[in-house]
Amino acid sequence: MQGGSLQGWHAPEITGNRYTGVGNWSTQDIAEYLQTGGNHRSVASGPMAEAVTHSLQYLSTADLHAIGVYLKSMPGSDRQAPAALAASDSTMTLGHTLFMQNCGACHRSSGQGVTGMVSSLADSAGVRAPDPANMLSTILIGSRGAMTQSNPTGAAMPNFSWKLTDGDIAAISTYIRNSWGNAAAPVSADEVRKARNSLGARAAVGIAQNK
Ligand code: HEC
Repeated sequence: MQGGSLQGWHAPEITGNRYTGVGNWSTQDIAEYLQTGGNHRSVASGPMAEAVTHSLQYLSTADLHAIGVYLKSMPGSDRQAPAALAASDSTMTLGHTLFMQNCGACHRSSGQGVTGMVSSLADSAGVRAPDPANMLSTILIGSRGAMTQSNPTGAAMPNFSWKLTDGDIAAISTYIRNSWGNAAAPVSADEVRKARNSLGARAAVGIAQNK
């Protein structure tokens, strides 16, 4: 339950660890996420959206709460937050500008998104994951949130591979991983290049260079 990689995605830690697990989620947050596909913290996408859409949403509310109590009781990994990069760091200021231009309309300048529709990026274990694969895949090729009986909208995230260079995406990812209560290792342009290649995402036309 401490997370792992599969199908090009990173399945996050789901123990009581507050940094990379669900320790900062209430049992109600967990039940709501599994039943509706999202909550004020996150929106299920990729293989997790499939699990919610085709299976978990049909569990009883009591069972979903029991799952939440169980997950939170698990001790989990000893991963801890490093010191966050300073907001004045040059990668952080570039990331901030690019975030406001490309992401802020949906995810908001506070990083808090829209409950049940656009994932919150603030104080987010998903954002702080040791492996940034989900973040890079979501930015490069976009993704679709879970569609459920109680939340049939199933919002989607557009892709940015065509617009943002490897360096742009590295700066935005590093900015998100070190803002709004998050602290995590920076993401390099080389990591983005490898993700772009393995996902078969197109090259950027590089029009977002108006820093
Ligand atoms: C048109 C609205 C929209 C824009 C613009 C947008 N997003 Fe998203 N984003 C979403 C939605 C909706 C989701 C949740 C559904 C999903 O994951 O597919 C999401 C999910 C995410 C996630 C996954 C969060 C998690 O819980 O792990 C990340 C990371 C992310 N967006 C980053 C970005 C970045 C970086 C940009 C700008 C380059 C951006 N988004 C621009 C709508 C948007």
